[in-house]
Amino acid sequence: MSTHAKRIFSGIQPTNGLTLGNYLGAMKRFVEIQEQDAEAIYCVVDLHAITQPQKRSDLLHNTRELTAAYLASGIDPSRSILFNQSGVAEHAELGWILGCTARVGWMNRMTQFKDKAGKNAEAVSLGLYSYPALMAADILLYHATHVPVGDDQKQHVELTRDIAMKFNNDFDAKDFFPIPEPLIDGPAPRVMSLRDASKKMSKSDPSDQSRINIRDDADTIVKKIKKATSDAEPLPSEEDGLKDRLAAKNLVSIYAALAGVSKADVLAEFGGQGFGVFKPKLAELAADSLAPISTKIAEYMDDPAEIDRILQDGAARARSIAAPILDQVYDIVGFLPRRK
Ligand code: TYM
Repeated sequence: MSTHAKRIFSGIQPTNGLTLGNYLGAMKRFVEIQEQDAEAIYCVVDLHAITQPQKRSDLLHNTRELTAAYLASGIDPSRSILFNQSGVAEHAELGWILGCTARVGWMNRMTQFKDKAGKNAEAVSLGLYSYPALMAADILLYHATHVPVGDDQKQHVELTRDIAMKFNNDFDAKDFFPIPEPLIDGPAPRVMSLRDASKKMSKSDPSDQSRINIRDDADTIVKKIKKATSDAEPLPSEEDGLKDRLAAKNLVSIYAALAGVSKADVLAEFGGQGFGVFKPKLAELAADSLAPISTKIAEYMDDPAEIDRILQDGAARARSIAAPILDQVYDIVGFLPRRK
């Protein structure tokens, strides 16, 4: 595996099922990257999930269901490493060490914490606040070079870069941690809510109408797209014409990402047509794209023991990369050698 120049790491939280935003901004990209034959490590980040309250049974179910979604979307555990974060204790250990490198001033700038904590910042968990240091540990523990994420995680990857540079500097460790690059590409790095195109499509939006869930059935998908906010104008023929039309831009981006084409290609086909024509085509494309994934998720979920086996095997392989790197961190920091 180490013959690859690039090492990819990314993760998704096992909370409330995947949205079309997670799928287009992350999962579909992960599969494309795997096809480019990069060395890729994909994680079900269960330690991150508990930064907000989780019922035991939900966490267990969501961990297995997200794994099933990775497999159903095309992640092949014999080519990529697929594992759950709590299965490799080194994440938590490095998370602590990097929490001592990160500065409180840096954490205070994290917009996702502000959004998630809302007016209740005093009452949320300490873990929610320190979470970006754990995310930095996830990435740096593997000396990952590239991190495919949606646009909303860009700030956390930038923080990871700052933490890596400060650690290398503070401990005179030169280039010990490579400085990872965010990979934020594809036509839909930020899928917006179907009800309010100024807001991100999110699992936590109280309105189910605002999002498409990867396991929604065809009928539900068609209804949600039909009701999605749009405008009265026909679609433009050039991308420039989408500039001030957030809802139209969102729907065109979704179409492009699902079809695997560019926004320009979509506009070349639909420019001049209204939403009366475009929406049914989009709904059909979304339903046809997600149906086989839903079916496969259900099949994988029929055999939870097999899912657990895949995660355990992935965790053992992940650990074989992570453990020697954490051994070196111990040495760099001045801890006695780790017990084998
Ligand atoms: P999470 O679980 O919130 O989201 C998983 C991935 O989905 C992307 N995403 C979106 N992309 C486009 N449009 C949207 N509306 C949308 N909503 C979510 C996210 O950007 C993300 O790529 N902190 C991370 C998980 C994580 C991680 C890591 C990622 C933990 N450790 C290390 C990369 C590397 C998170 O909460 O993602």
